[in-house]
Amino acid sequence: MVTARITVNGKEAPIAPAAPHTTVLDFLRERGLTGTKEGCAEGECGACSVLVARPGVSKPTDWVPVNACLVPVAALDGQEVVTSEGLATVEAPGTPPVLHPVQEEMAVRGGSQCGYCTPGFVCSMAAEYYRPDRCAHAGQGSDPAEGADGVAGTDPEHGPNGFDLHALSGNLCRCTGYRPIRDAAFAVGVPTDEDPLARRREQDPPAPVATEYRQDDSAFLRRGTLAETLRLLRERPDAVVVAGSTDWGVEVNIRSRRADCVVAVDRLPELRELRVESDHVEIGAALTLTEIERRLDGTVPLLGQLFPQFASRLIRNGATLGGNLGTGSPIGDSPPVLLALEASLVLADADGEREVPLAEYFTGYRQSVRRPGELIRAVRLPLPLSPVTAFHKIAKRRFDDISSVAVAFALDIGGGTVRKARIGLGGVAATPVRALATEAALEGRPWTAETAEAAAGVLRGEGTPMSDHRASADYRSAMLGQSLLKLHAQTTEAVPS
Ligand SMILES: Cc1cc2nc3c(=O)[nH]c(=O)nc-3n(C[C@H](O)[C@H](O)[C@H](O)COP(=O)(O)OP(=O)(O)OC[C@H]3O[C@@H](n4cnc5c(N)ncnc54)[C@H](O)[C@@H]3O)c2cc1C
Ligand code: FES
Ligand code: FES
Repeated sequence: MVTARITVNGKEAPIAPAAPHTTVLDFLRERGLTGTKEGCAEGECGACSVLVARPGVSKPTDWVPVNACLVPVAALDGQEVVTSEGLATVEAPGTPPVLHPVQEEMAVRGGSQCGYCTPGFVCSMAAEYYRPDRCAHAGQGSDPAEGADGVAGTDPEHGPNGFDLHALSGNLCRCTGYRPIRDAAFAVGVPTDEDPLARRREQDPPAPVATEYRQDDSAFLRRGTLAETLRLLRERPDAVVVAGSTDWGVEVNIRSRRADCVVAVDRLPELRELRVESDHVEIGAALTLTEIERRLDGTVPLLGQLFPQFASRLIRNGATLGGNLGTGSPIGDSPPVLLALEASLVLADADGEREVPLAEYFTGYRQSVRRPGELIRAVRLPLPLSPVTAFHKIAKRRFDDISSVAVAFALDIGGGTVRKARIGLGGVAATPVRALATEAALEGRPWTAETAEAAAGVLRGEGTPMSDHRASADYRSAMLGQSLLKLHAQTTEAVPS
């Protein structure tokens, strides 16, 4: 048996004797790499951010920041990780390390006070520093340190160097204040040709390796193919399937859940394909939301509206559609969108595959038709897409928050009439649901303020919203109605009459 190993800052190390549920964060700190901090242990603060070498979108390898507190270290068997300590370079033995350009900018622009959040910020910032399409567009603007405000060709969320501030959306700082951090982000340049991490992007990422990692009575297992994985799941129906671990990691850390057997599916090639065919789009269940966003690049506008509102960039770098549907949560953000898009799920087990419309997938609170040993292999979206779409997530914060209510619309409006309406709802019932009565109240009717008002009344009555600490039932119902009125207000000018 090959021993599980991980490469950290260029040096290979065995994962043993860490327990299979040990997080990357605990593993690193145990090895003295204490730059990686624990703030929350549930993916909310980014103090634990580290870089992982992953298959790239426009180059062979991307440096992808993830929350080290959520990922089991065994999931990175055979993979390469860079921590904040690995960003600085030592030019000669005995000399002090030379700061990485992002560390230098954070230091000189006052982006760090107590410093607790800084290594995490620096890792997220470094990933954006190396993002190939940022580098291609960087270099406009004469003084990046002035920030985006008032600089021609930029907006408040993008620097003149192309830096996308959403890259830092998963990092919290409680004492510096964000302006100096933003100044540092907007001041970084483009990596030089000698930069080792920039050069690393030109080579293939580490290939996924089959992992058989056991300590005491528990195991972390990864097979190389879907067929082998499905056979394993048939033998071990008790196994917990893990993809990005952004849900499972919280269960382990906060609820102290442990599994005798964890089976990783995140690197399975059969779950990582994305195909745009003439009559449908098929999205692999184990592609991360960031990969889907970048690879679709606006092909499915409703998904394009979902992604920026889904958690933070750090979470989206790990989170998958399979995991979001796999939890069966009634407040997951992808189900309303996928319901409006009339998605179906390709489910696979050791006997073969079946396709189930998403509208028939959920059967009760966190229940579905998925059988033990069955995986979600892919999500299929039929084409053509309805042209008028919107995703309204009502939450307490604009970004990185759990929705109180989520509404997704996909309408086909022609000649001023609603030809087809599909509406998906989250947070109003024990499962995500279609707003069937509202769809019927819209279809065949003129897309007028009167129709929208009448249908909003129907939408307010859909589902069985509850009152909880996030929102009251009345508020949730009211937001449903408002959502349709907002869509009407936003679209009437753009819709052909
Ligand atoms: C800080 C934070 C913010 C978040 N914000 C949001 C948000 O805004 N919106 C939202 O919807 N969610 C949010 N989440 C929840 C989580 O990120 C999503 O549900 C994510 O899509 C889970 O994907 P994953 O690959 O990480 O799942 P995992 O944690 O790997 O798995 C989750 C569950 O799905 C099952 N599973 C995974 N893959 C498959 C598969 N292919 N087939 C069958 N079952 C499978 C697993 O067995 C497990 O039960 C947030 C989580 C955190 C920690
Ligand atoms: S420790 Fe807060 S996100 Fe990991
Ligand atoms: S510098 Fe103190 S938390 Fe950010």
